[in-house]
Formats: sequence, structure tokens, C-alpha cells
Amino acid sequence: MDLCVVILLFCVFHLIHGQPDDLGFISIDCGIPVNSSYQDPSSKIIYVSDYGYVTSGENRNISSVYIRPSLAKRNLNVRFFQHGARNCYALRSLVAGNKYFVRALFYYGNYDGLDKLPVFDLYMGANYWHEVNISAAGAVKWMDIIVVAPADYLHVCLVNKGMGTPFISGLDLRPLRITLYPEVNASQSLVLISSNRFNLGPTDNRIIRYPLDPHDRLWSTYDTIPNWNEISATSVVQNYVTDVYDVPSAVMQNAASVNGSRIDFSWGPVDPSENISSSYFFVFYFSELQNVQSNAVRQFDIIVNNKTWNTQPYTPRFLFADSFSGIVQGLASYSVSLVATENATLPPILNAMEMYLVEPITEIATDSGDARAMMSIQENFGVEKNWMGDPCAPKAFAWIGLTCSYPPAHAARITALNVSSFGLAGTISTDFGDLNALQYLDLSNNNLSGTIPNFLGRLPFLIFLDLSSNDLHGTIPDNLLQKSQNGTLSLRVGNNANICANGTACGSSRKKINGALLAAIVIPIVAVIAIFVVLFLLLRQKLKGKDKRKTTGPEDESALLENREFSYRELKYITSNFSQEIGKGGFGAVFLGYLKNGNSVAVKVRSDSSSQGGKEFLAEAQHLTRIHHKNLVSLIGYCKDKNHLALVYEYMPKGNLQDHLRGSTSKPLTWEQRLHIALDAAQVSAHRV
Ligand SMILES: *[C@@H]1O[C@H](CO)[C@@H](O)[C@H](O)[C@H]1NC(C)=O
Ligand SMILES: *[C@@H]1O[C@H](CO)[C@@H](O)[C@H](O)[C@H]1NC(C)=O
Ligand SMILES: *[C@@H]1O[C@H](CO)[C@@H](O)[C@H](O)[C@H]1NC(C)=O
Ligand SMILES: *[C@@H]1O[C@H](CO)[C@@H](O)[C@H](O)[C@H]1NC(C)=O
Ligand SMILES: *[C@@H]1O[C@H](CO)[C@@H](O)[C@H](O)[C@H]1NC(C)=O
Ligand SMILES: *[C@@H]1O[C@H](CO)[C@@H](O)[C@H](O)[C@H]1NC(C)=O
Ligand SMILES: *[C@@H]1O[C@H](CO)[C@@H](O)[C@H](O)[C@H]1NC(C)=O
Ligand SMILES: *[C@@H]1O[C@H](CO)[C@@H](O)[C@H](O)[C@H]1NC(C)=O
Ligand SMILES: *[C@@H]1O[C@H](CO)[C@@H](O)[C@H](O)[C@H]1NC(C)=O
Ligand SMILES: *[C@@H]1O[C@H](CO)[C@@H](O)[C@H](O)[C@H]1NC(C)=O
Ligand SMILES: *[C@@H]1O[C@H](CO)[C@@H](O)[C@H](O)[C@H]1NC(C)=O
Ligand SMILES: *[C@@H]1O[C@H](CO)[C@@H](O)[C@H](O)[C@H]1NC(C)=O
Repeated sequence: MDLCVVILLFCVFHLIHGQPDDLGFISIDCGIPVNSSYQDPSSKIIYVSDYGYVTSGENRNISSVYIRPSLAKRNLNVRFFQHGARNCYALRSLVAGNKYFVRALFYYGNYDGLDKLPVFDLYMGANYWHEVNISAAGAVKWMDIIVVAPADYLHVCLVNKGMGTPFISGLDLRPLRITLYPEVNASQSLVLISSNRFNLGPTDNRIIRYPLDPHDRLWSTYDTIPNWNEISATSVVQNYVTDVYDVPSAVMQNAASVNGSRIDFSWGPVDPSENISSSYFFVFYFSELQNVQSNAVRQFDIIVNNKTWNTQPYTPRFLFADSFSGIVQGLASYSVSLVATENATLPPILNAMEMYLVEPITEIATDSGDARAMMSIQENFGVEKNWMGDPCAPKAFAWIGLTCSYPPAHAARITALNVSSFGLAGTISTDFGDLNALQYLDLSNNNLSGTIPNFLGRLPFLIFLDLSSNDLHGTIPDNLLQKSQNGTLSLRVGNNANICANGTACGSSRKKINGALLAAIVIPIVAVIAIFVVLFLLLRQKLKGKDKRKTTGPEDESALLENREFSYRELKYITSNFSQEIGKGGFGAVFLGYLKNGNSVAVKVRSDSSSQGGKEFLAEAQHLTRIHHKNLVSLIGYCKDKNHLALVYEYMPKGNLQDHLRGSTSKPLTWEQRLHIALDAAQVSAHRV
């Protein structure tokens, strides 16, 4: 009783997280109300709702016509998946490399009122498990698979193949010791279809499962063949220490025998539409249940398709479980014979048997680090789309927004993640920093808040990062800035709440200088300054007379006026309070900044110590306007706000323009080189004015 309470508490606790209970079991009744759970009266197993295991699908009760008193509660409802080609359950908190037994259960019961039996596919992770062909509305169907978990999670996926809506009634996971079923390894699994796991002998049509089988395998009754006898024992049948199938005593205590000298039967994949698998795996279990007299001999051969499996005449041991197993080539039918040897005085017996399909693991799943990060991102941000199952594999079901590379014989890696306009809200979680094969990351047009984390700068292959149009604030981490400056990263951070290079001294929010404020304040100021500039230029033109051919042609003036004017306040915001100095000219320091559209700019500010005055400033502006025509460094705008003078240039970290001024080298110049050339030119020109 106490144990039950403990188990219940564990289940209620784990229900929240979608994890195994204290036995390592996951027992889901698909289709029951969210967060509900109950204890199965016969197995005492606690079934939980699929909350936390699946993010898609809907619940429905089966039609009352198909409710029978003997029907387990699990079959009374289903979860069905009308949308998407692939819908998956995620079984988590497992141990990578460990062996698991997974069972999926289906009872159609005309839940959709369509009276149309669906056919769909079942996948274990990226690998095909089996087709689910519902043969009758009132038939319970289940399938088992024994697998090695490649990671600390397993995905069970239902795939719609255009032959009806996939649904599921129950899903179980049980841990198995790694030494059990040695035929199962990382490259091979065993699939049990049509409940081909039999308990022979007197079973009263009772299915044996947990707790009699600690691994909760379901042992069904084999249709008794008329001339077979049934024998049984009440003593415990023990397992050898070296036993690799761990057949339960309750199963071994019953056996089939005959009055004659041989047991013959045949076995084949039951469903006639069933594809013949390339190979099958059989296990036959034997134990002597009768205290055989010293003068009696039970001795026989185990013959499968005329091939004798035992190397010498076989005598089962009294109350010890023994087994003969083997992988056989795929055929439509097998004949199995247990034939008494000439010295035998007792007929052969058979206690139990299992028949599996051998299923190779061919599809390599996504790198588990990448997959875990994506699963966590999916969960954190509640992304729906088709974000279920393995992120990259199979290719046909890869998650929307992902680009994967599929290196031969290696796990798939995520090289690009584009979640632009996915409605993500919250901070940029560390999971993004775990996607360490990423080259492109587009997080633009979401509602991401908080600061830009510096782990993004540690992604070794990242060459493109778009954080624009979010709600981010604070500094751009140094590692990102450096990569952006040396041209190894294309970084976009425009249109955010308040991005700056050093937190405490951030300028005002873009939102404040947007919209109405912009119209009400900035436009009049621009207009007034424009008038002053025109007046100033006209005045200077008059004073300088002849000199004008050199620098101040009317085209240059109009070109200058076409450039945008920035207020000092705007520049403070754009450059995050002039926090990131990227160069120095005679005129003053040059700072990195970002415009609203995400473009990076260089802002050259006249220093207080500069000997240059307003005239020189304008000369440089005009000169650079001309240089702009020569395609060197583009001037975007200027600032002439009280005594603050500044020029705003386009900033291209990775340039490949020619050195027009020097005309000497054909090697592409870095942005820094081009800027310096432009600044030098402007300097020379300014002094000539
Ligand atoms: C289910 O339980 C989880 C965890 O306790 C909770 O967050 C969630 O809101 C619950 N859902 C419903 C529908 O009660
Ligand atoms: C299924 O039936 C139960 C009562 O047996 C009811 O509480 C539940 O709401 C039903 N679920 C659906 C999805 O109709
Ligand atoms: C499903 O099984 C039925 C027989 O039960 C068979 O006639 C049908 O062809 C099968 N469908 C598929 C798609 O395998
Ligand atoms: C799995 O077992 C098969 C058959 O015994 C063997 O051929 C294969 O190499 C094994 N794979 C691994 C990864 O051990
Ligand atoms: C086998 O022999 C036993 C005893 O000799 C008898 O009780 C039983 O009915 C026989 N079974 C069949 C199937 O003939
Ligand atoms: C049988 O094989 C065909 C072709 O490989 C496949 O399309 C079909 O789904 C398979 N059927 C079953 C029951 O596995
Ligand atoms: C087994 O051997 C017998 C006799 O040699 C033969 O008639 C029968 O076809 C064989 N069966 C198989 C499945 O090979
Ligand atoms: C049968 O018994 C005899 C005498 O005990 C023995 O010589 C012979 O090898 C046995 N045959 C087999 C197949 O065990
Ligand atoms: C990301 O997706 C959006 C919309 O689908 C698209 O406009 C954008 O160019 C993509 N970003 C990248 C880096 O490919
Ligand atoms: C973004 O988040 C804020 C606050 O959390 C919310 O008010 C706003 O509606 C969200 N915007 C979008 C587009 O989701
Ligand atoms: C660019 O800067 C990053 C960060 O400082 C550095 O790791 C990288 O080696 C630099 N690359 C080049 C080509 O300078
Ligand atoms: C930001 O400010 C801190 C001290 O407040 C300083 O140590 C750091 O160098 C500054 N970083 C930049 C990029 O200016």
C-alpha cells in the first residue's frame, strides 16, 4: 500500500515534467484530460496524460458502440493528429546508450465517427518502426520495439501517409538492462508486431505483464492446437545468471506438450499485406516442469525450417529457464518442429516464444547536442510549426526554419536557424549557444527581450547574425563586435529597444525618437538647420568668389543637403554614447554605430581639441560627398547640432573596393583602410579650403 502511495506521488511529480517514474517507466494513456492520471487495477501501473510528452493533436473518446466491459481504460480514448505530416511524442530523461522497450497501443473504436480504418506509419526517432494498419474498429493492436537510445530522449512519431488520420491510445517505455536482448544494438532494433510473444500452456486467456514480468512485456495466449497437452508447475522457474531474455517465472510455469513424439507448428507474418522483412528473430523458451523419474528421459531437437538449432540432444532443466534463439532469413512462413530423440521416453515441451522483425537502424539522427538545444528552444518559446521529433532526420520531416548538413555516416548538424517572425518572446536562451555548428542565425522580427548574450560570439562558425527588430537592450558583447569589425561576422542589431556598446551609458530608446516625436521635433530642427546651411553656403560662396571651382560647386552643395541630418542626441543613441571607438583622424575620433535599419555606420566626431572649425567640417563633408561619387566610402549624413559636428559614413566591415585614390594596388582594401584613405583625403582637402 505504501509503495503504491510512493509510486503515485512520484508519478504526480513526474507528470509535470514528462519524465519516467521511479521504476524508469513511462506509461501514457493518450487522450485523457491534461494532467489527469489513474492507477490500472490489474498491473497497478499509474497511467498519466500525455501532457509534457506531445505538443500537438487532440483528444477524443471512442464511440460507445465499441466500449466493452473487458476493455482496459486506456482504450477508451485516443489522441489524434489531423494536422502535419509527422507528429511525435518525446520520451525524455533517458540514458543515452541504454536499452529500452517501447510499446505503442491502438484502439480505433470509431472515435471519429467516420467508420474508416486508418493506415499510417510509426517511427522510432528518425527510423521507420512499422506500418500501423488498423484491421478492425474493435481490435486492440500493439507494437513493441526494443532499441538502444542514441541520446537521452526517444521520439515516437506518427506519420500520415494519406490513408487516414493517425491516432494513438497508449504509449509505454520500460528500461532494459543493456545485457538483455544482445541482438539489439545501436545499429539494429527488434520490432514485435501482431503480439507475437506467447505464453504456452494453460493460461486461462490471461495476458501476463507487469508486475509478473518486471519489464512489462505482454505475453499473450497462443491459440491452443487441439492435440497439444498443457502442463504447469507452481514452483518458481529460475533464470540463469547469464540469461539474456529474463523470461518471467509466471510465463515459464506453463508449457505445451503432446501425447506423441513431436510438436509441429508454423509461423509467418500474420497480415497477408505484410512485407517480408529481410530477417526475423526467434526465441524459444524451455523448462522442465515435471519431476521426471530417473528412468524417464525428455530429450528432443529444435528444428526451424529443417535446420536443427541444438548441437546435441536437448533436455530442458528442471525449473530453470533455458532458451534457444536465432536470426533467420525473411520468409513468408516458417515450420517449427520439436522432435523427440530415439532415446526419449517423454514428449517435447515448449513454454514460451517470441518472434520479432529485425529492423536495421539506417537513418542517423541529428547530433544530440543540436537536437537537445532545439528541443529546449521549442519548449521555451512554445514553437509549434512542425517542431517535433528529430530536428533534421529524416530529411523529409526536418523542422521548418532549419538547414542541416548530412555528412555521410555522421550525425546531421544544424548549420542555419531562421526563426525570423516566429513570434518568439523572452530572453535569448543559452540553447542558441549550444548550436555550435551554426553559420547563420536569424532571430529578427520577434519579441526577444533582455540583453544580447555573449555566448553567441563564441559560436565558432557563425558568420551571420540578425537580431534586428526585437526588444533587446544593453551592450553588444565585445566578441560579437570584434567579429563584426574584422569582417568575420555580418551583424544586424537595428530596430531594437536600446542597444549600445556599454550598458550604463545607453542613449534614449529608439521608440522615443520615433513617430510623433520625430515629426514634432526632429523635422522642424532639420528644416531650420537646412535653412542655416543654405544661408551659410550662399554667404561663403559670395566671400570666396574665384575659389569655388575647387570645392564648392552647386552640385556639391545640393549633394550635401541631400544627405541626412542627425541630431546629436540621435548620434548618441546610434553610437551608444560614443562607446566603441574604431578609428581616429585628424578631425577626431570615429565611432561604430547602428542605424534603425540595422546597417552599421561609422560616426566621425570633431574632437574639442581639433583645430577644425565649422568651415573645415563642411569642407570635409563636401569632399566626402565627392568621394562618395567615386564609390569609396559613402557619406550617409552629418550632424551640426549647436557646436557638435559629426559625419556619418556607411560602414562595411568587409569591403572589396579598389584603392581609387592611390590607384596603385588591385588588392581589396579593408574598410579601415578605405576609411583612412578617405579621412586623409578629406584632411588634405579641408586644409586647402
Ligand atoms: C498541467 O500541469 C502543469 C504543471 O503542473 C501546469 O503548468 C499546467 O498548467 C497544467 N495544465 C492544466 C491544463 O491544468
Ligand atoms: C470522455 O469521456 C469522459 C467521461 O467518460 C469525459 O469526462 C471526457 O470529457 C470525455 N472526453 C472528451 C474529449 O470528450
Ligand atoms: C491493411 O490490412 C488489410 C488487411 O487487413 C489489407 O487488405 C490492406 O491492404 C492493408 N493496407 C495497407 C496499406 O497495407
Ligand atoms: C549490431 O549487431 C549486428 C548483428 O550482430 C552486427 O552486425 C553489428 O555490427 C552490431 N552493431 C553495433 C553498432 O554493434
Ligand atoms: C493425452 O494423454 C492423456 C493421458 O494419457 C490424456 O488424458 C489426454 O486426453 C491425451 N490428450 C490428447 C490430446 O489426446
Ligand atoms: C511494404 O513495402 C512498401 C515498399 O517498400 C512500403 O511502401 C509499405 O509501406 C510496406 N508495407 C508495410 C506493411 O510495411
Ligand atoms: C524440410 O525437409 C522436408 C523433407 O526433406 C521437405 O519436404 C520440406 O520441404 C523441407 N521444408 C523446408 C521448409 O525446407
Ligand atoms: C541413446 O542411448 C544409448 C544408450 O544409452 C546411447 O548409446 C546413444 O548414444 C543414445 N542416443 C542419443 C541420440 O543420445
Ligand atoms: C529568414 O526567413 C525570412 C522569412 O522566411 C526571410 O525573409 C529571411 O531572408 C531569412 N533569413 C535568412 C538569413 O535567410
Ligand atoms: C511583445 O511583448 C510585449 C511585452 O511582453 C507585449 O506587450 C507585446 O504585445 C509583444 N509583441 C508581440 C508582437 O508579440
Ligand atoms: C575576428 O575577431 C574575432 C574575435 O576577436 C577573432 O576570434 C577572429 O580571429 C578575428 N578574425 C580575423 C580574420 O581577424
Ligand atoms: C564598458 O565599460 C566598462 C566599465 O564600465 C569598461 O571596462 C569596458 O571597457 C567598456 N567597454 C567598452 C566596449 O567600451
